[in-house]
Amino acid sequence: MKTLIAGVDGYLGWALALRLLSKGHQVIGIDNFYTRKAVKEVGSDSALPIGSFHQRIRGLPKDKMSKIALYKADVTDYGRLKKIISKYRPDSIVDFAEQRSAPYSMRSRETASHTLSNNIIGTLNFIYAIKEINREIHFLKMGTMGEYGTPNFDIPESTFIEASINGKTDRIITPKYAGSWYHWSKVYDTDNLIFANKIWGLTTTDIMQGPVYGTRTSEITDSRLFTRFDFDETWGTVLNRYCVEAVLGMPLTPYGSGGQTRAFLSLEDSVTALSLLLENPPASGNYRTVNQFTETYSVLELANIVQERASALGLKTEIKNVDNPRVEAETHYYNPERKILPGLGLKGPTKNLKDEIEVIIKDLLPYKNRLEKHRSVIAPKTNWRA
Ligand SMILES: NC(=O)c1ccc[n+]([C@@H]2O[C@H](COP(=O)([O-])OP(=O)(O)OC[C@H]3O[C@@H](n4cnc5c(N)ncnc54)[C@H](O)[C@@H]3O)[C@@H](O)[C@H]2O)c1
Repeated sequence: MKTLIAGVDGYLGWALALRLLSKGHQVIGIDNFYTRKAVKEVGSDSALPIGSFHQRIRGLPKDKMSKIALYKADVTDYGRLKKIISKYRPDSIVDFAEQRSAPYSMRSRETASHTLSNNIIGTLNFIYAIKEINREIHFLKMGTMGEYGTPNFDIPESTFIEASINGKTDRIITPKYAGSWYHWSKVYDTDNLIFANKIWGLTTTDIMQGPVYGTRTSEITDSRLFTRFDFDETWGTVLNRYCVEAVLGMPLTPYGSGGQTRAFLSLEDSVTALSLLLENPPASGNYRTVNQFTETYSVLELANIVQERASALGLKTEIKNVDNPRVEAETHYYNPERKILPGLGLKGPTKNLKDEIEVIIKDLLPYKNRLEKHRSVIAPKTNWRA
């Protein structure tokens, strides 16, 4: 299989590239290195050091090195994107190339505008390139479970649901109620993809993924192959942030009461899920919505688990709830459906969360001095209400 990964230099992109290469697939990578620059701009850095992209590729065994090509390119540049896709004519395209921070998107009009234009135009460019070059390309677009928000009903894993108004019934797009401009950008992507499928029959997998945690996959077996790992308030996901707080002896900081429940999965399960979806595309011309997660926890439950595992490693931490900078329900119903990935073989978490937390902390400990320099960027500063 020949797969183009847009956003290949990122947390998920690099890990997926390694997985696909290890399965003998060919990878064409695109990235404009936006995340590297944006993380530096908030005074932070990847907790685990990563080399330049070319250094990363040179660290691969020769047989894998020859199966990956890299382009520095911006997916909002349609001409360049189309040229690369036309040159390689991949079987599938994975789109990770988006601004992926909710707090960044909420900082100002400018950052909201950048998030919406980068993400929506990037996806639109893929839609047009696929339509013009080869409509049989399987487009696997990474969205987020955050598109749904936290409705007081079960979240179906389907593109449409039936709704009745005044006794009349019709099919409507599964309701979405996102909680940041970033999450809304993904909702708009979804709407555009559903429309493109309706008019041009593009074969699409739209993934609603929960927050991913972890440092390792079966391929990331030594530090030269590390993927990036962000922990600051803008770019870090919750569990990764708690682990860095534990390493630095800082309190673990759930926002508000910590009852916000989300759907999580490990980096290992994320790349396994993605390769299963790539190897098992929907029938030609079909659109598939996938809820990609393996377990649900409240953010307070996660803090308790990190505290316990850190303590087992001799790291004493307290839990200190901080004012919630976001506008979100702290007590709510949460029951997303999950049937497609279990049907393809990913039945539950393949790694135990507690063991994974221990692995993350052990991977971070050698870089404690590096993390010390960035203490001040962990506490939340971006206020949704401001
Ligand atoms: N990490 C998670 O927990 C998680 C959960 C759900 C969804 N997602 C989504 O998965 C995707 C990948 O997430 P990640 O954590 O790897 O993020 P990341 O920021 O580490 O990776 C995204 C990559 O895309 C690149 N990029 C951004 N805009 C680009 C553009 N216009 N042109 C070319 N490259 C561009 C960035 O430089 C970066 O390397 C994102 O779309 C994100 O919203 C991530």
